[in-house]
Amino acid sequence: MHDFAVTHAILVTLGLTWFAFTWWQYRRMNHVRSVNQPSSNRLSVIDTSHHSVISNNAAACSIVYASEGGQAQQLAEQLHCGLQQQKDGFSRLCSFTEFVFTLDLASEDSAHQDVIFIVSTAGDGAPPAMAHAGWQRLQTITSWPRNLSVCVLALGDRNYPKFCAFGHALQNHLHHSGAEFILPLTCVDKLQQSTIIDWQWRLSSKLSQNFGSSINRLMETATPCLWRLTHRQWLNENDSGVMHNRPLFHLGFKPLDRPSDQAFDWSPGDLVDIGLNDGSVRTYSIASIPESGQLDLIVRQVRGPDGSLGAGSGWLTERIDAGSQIDLKIRRNIAFHPSELEKPAIFIAAGSGYAGIRAHLQYRAQHSAGQNWLIFGERSRRFDSIFSNETRVLREQGLLVHEHRVFSRPDANDCTELLPHSCYVQDILKTHRPRLQQWLMAGATIYICGGQSMGAAVLEQIKAATGSATLALLKQQNRIRCELY
Ligand SMILES: Cc1cc2nc3c(=O)[nH]c(=O)nc-3n(C[C@H](O)[C@H](O)[C@H](O)COP(=O)(O)OP(=O)(O)OC[C@H]3O[C@@H](n4cnc5c(N)ncnc54)[C@H](O)[C@@H]3O)c2cc1C
Ligand SMILES: Cc1cc2nc3c(=O)[nH]c(=O)nc-3n(C[C@H](O)[C@H](O)[C@H](O)COP(=O)(O)O)c2cc1C
Repeated sequence: MHDFAVTHAILVTLGLTWFAFTWWQYRRMNHVRSVNQPSSNRLSVIDTSHHSVISNNAAACSIVYASEGGQAQQLAEQLHCGLQQQKDGFSRLCSFTEFVFTLDLASEDSAHQDVIFIVSTAGDGAPPAMAHAGWQRLQTITSWPRNLSVCVLALGDRNYPKFCAFGHALQNHLHHSGAEFILPLTCVDKLQQSTIIDWQWRLSSKLSQNFGSSINRLMETATPCLWRLTHRQWLNENDSGVMHNRPLFHLGFKPLDRPSDQAFDWSPGDLVDIGLNDGSVRTYSIASIPESGQLDLIVRQVRGPDGSLGAGSGWLTERIDAGSQIDLKIRRNIAFHPSELEKPAIFIAAGSGYAGIRAHLQYRAQHSAGQNWLIFGERSRRFDSIFSNETRVLREQGLLVHEHRVFSRPDANDCTELLPHSCYVQDILKTHRPRLQQWLMAGATIYICGGQSMGAAVLEQIKAATGSATLALLKQQNRIRCELY
């Protein structure tokens, strides 16, 4: 414990030094920029996608994104590309926090610009993590520069109680700060294409006035690849043959007619988006690596209180048959990509969250990367011991050092003195706190995949083991990677 306290102190000191250095560089960069640019044109941003400073000399439009899983960012990038292709179109792309921190409040006399915010809502109605600092700062700005007209496209999901809450909060704040709107707030439910296309047309007509040329190819979407469902297995079938009330399925897809290189291009942590007939989109974690020869998903079949099947999961698990063709759009999710193979990795998942973890385990096994610890939670050992044959092989190969499978509705012989009752993944972190601390000291990255409430409970336990400063540092160092839904 003493060792851990010392490491903790070192980590905090390193973190503060890193922060001070980054801040100094940031100030220095801004100073250089403000010296080199005419005062009337000082609003500029750091282009995060390329980590380079870009000038706003000719920009007539800023596209600002706040994104947790990458969808808002992807839309912003597509819009930016569309505008760049226009004859007179100059647009800048930047993240929300960078935009706010480089906002020049004294630029009233500068040339007019349109600022297009594309923001999603994360957590329980919260801004995406990348926008927290910017949002805090923006709330202290009560008078919006008059030369900047704005509009907000808010991404969200009506299944969450606080639908598009961050978009609404941003819209309200801009309104109360006196911003002029080029379009009313538009809320998009589960990436509904018709809403996005309609917004895109309304935006085009507004921007055309400013740009003096027509904009007609905004936000073209990448062509999804056609895949064939080759395999579907009900993973938690019970012996009575009666449908389990939370059926979980393993699906395997092979590309239909594309050259395999193009189709087989993803990393552990990446996602697929599946477009439904009503124009909405459902996202699933890819549960395999390309080298396995197929794209796997692990899908929980969900039902509404009236017993009706969930639109996406019902379609995948009941409505299509083996052999069916389906459009899958692979989406990169850098936030959940693998870290260094030589460092230890702790994988935590519950239920269908095993999907994202399985791809990582396959990847580390492929590269003979040991030092893996798996904590997996489900309801019943008897029915929900999914993929245990695969993890047994990993254990035998010495690649899986610790494996904990915990069950919230245990059989009598599951109860031990240490874990007497229902057990959840976060309980393992508590019981094995010294080991968690040791693994973190050895440079481990923690991967968490599955439901939001599981993710929150796990983060609480990590905080209890490390303290909040170290937890913040671990997040900053990208050593806590989440794919939560
Ligand atoms: C990054 C990410 C990764 C994901 N990875 C996975 C994964 O690997 N595996 C997986 O299984 N899921 C995953 N999901 C969740 C997935 O995208 C879907 O949300 C899930 O399959 C439910 O979609 P659905 O269309 O079946 O349900 P929907 O039709 O969207 O219904 C969603 C919820 O509403 C309720 N509902 C449905 N109909 C009604 C009704 N008539 N009245 C009231 N309530 C109703 C349902 O109970 C359900 O809980 C992921 C999500 C994200 C964001
Ligand atoms: C963990 C999590 C929490 C979410 N919370 C909300 C919410 O409170 N309100 C909402 O409208 N949408 C919520 N969403 C839905 C997202 O806003 C929506 O899927 C959006 O398209 C994601 O965009 P992004 O990938 O840019 O973050 C949540 C999604 C996730 C994965």
